[in-house]
Amino acid sequence: MESRLIDKTVELLLEAEHVIVLTGAGISTESGVPDFRSPGGIWERYDPTMFFIERFLINPGEVWRCMLDMHSSREFSLWDARPNVGHQALAYLEEVGIVRTVITQNIDNLHQKAGSRNVIEFHGNLLFARCMKCRRKYGYEQVLIDLQTRVPPRCRCGGILKPDAIFFGEAIPEEAMRRSFNEAEDCDLMLVIGTSAQVEPAASLPLIAKGMSSYFWGAGNIPLPKRRSHVVEINRMPTSLTGHVSDFLVQGTTGEALSLIEEKVRRRKG
Ligand code: APR
Repeated sequence: MESRLIDKTVELLLEAEHVIVLTGAGISTESGVPDFRSPGGIWERYDPTMFFIERFLINPGEVWRCMLDMHSSREFSLWDARPNVGHQALAYLEEVGIVRTVITQNIDNLHQKAGSRNVIEFHGNLLFARCMKCRRKYGYEQVLIDLQTRVPPRCRCGGILKPDAIFFGEAIPEEAMRRSFNEAEDCDLMLVIGTSAQVEPAASLPLIAKGMSSYFWGAGNIPLPKRRSHVVEINRMPTSLTGHVSDFLVQGTTGEALSLIEEKVRRRKG
């Protein structure tokens, strides 16, 4: 891992006035939660069409049986995973007033468990389920009990429960979308951590942070002004953003990179 890029990231973090972070599944792999597209990832083990919203509406029981299989399979320990040093480093950077917001595509609740308070869950949270009729929310422990007697689980009102993660084809929650786009527009530094940046609309956030998205092209195709901003990637391999959107890629594991960054910030803050 190039220490000069770690040092450069620390400088940018200390100089910036509005720092946000966009995380993906890569920050949770060191907690034992597989990501989606790396070799051995979730989409090699489970059919992604299982998580198309149409499929859930047609056959919710089938999707819930798949969820039960995920929950019982040891390699997919999302429900009892613990935050790793990467999550903890981001919680520290928020605590000392450097990171203002974490926008996460992850559904594993690990940023919150690590102590991050200002977290935008762009794709919801798999540790909860919600009634499709009255919108009442349930913890997954309660749902597991209900699943022992009936599939799909149901709400007290009789409505079917749906996992509170956003399925493919389902709208991003309006508030999460609005807040995330505003944060991306206003920030002067975005760390993009552990994401392949392949899934929209989350993948547009780094472009907006950089003032590159067509979102900024006003009438007559004149780019609207955006104050100078930086986008820094932390990933074990390059992505579609590397060399095009991000200023640079800190290539390595998120745990090692973020631990080094935290250590250097602590030293600078004394
Ligand atoms: N350290 C650094 N990078 C890592 C690590 C690690 N320990 N583990 C994985 N990565 C990187 C991979 O190289 C990859 O670029 O994290 C990225 C994970 O990419 P994906 O598996 O595509 O996950 P993500 O980008 O979060 O997917 C976005 O797609 O399937 C949907 O809803 C799902 O939120 C998810 C969205």
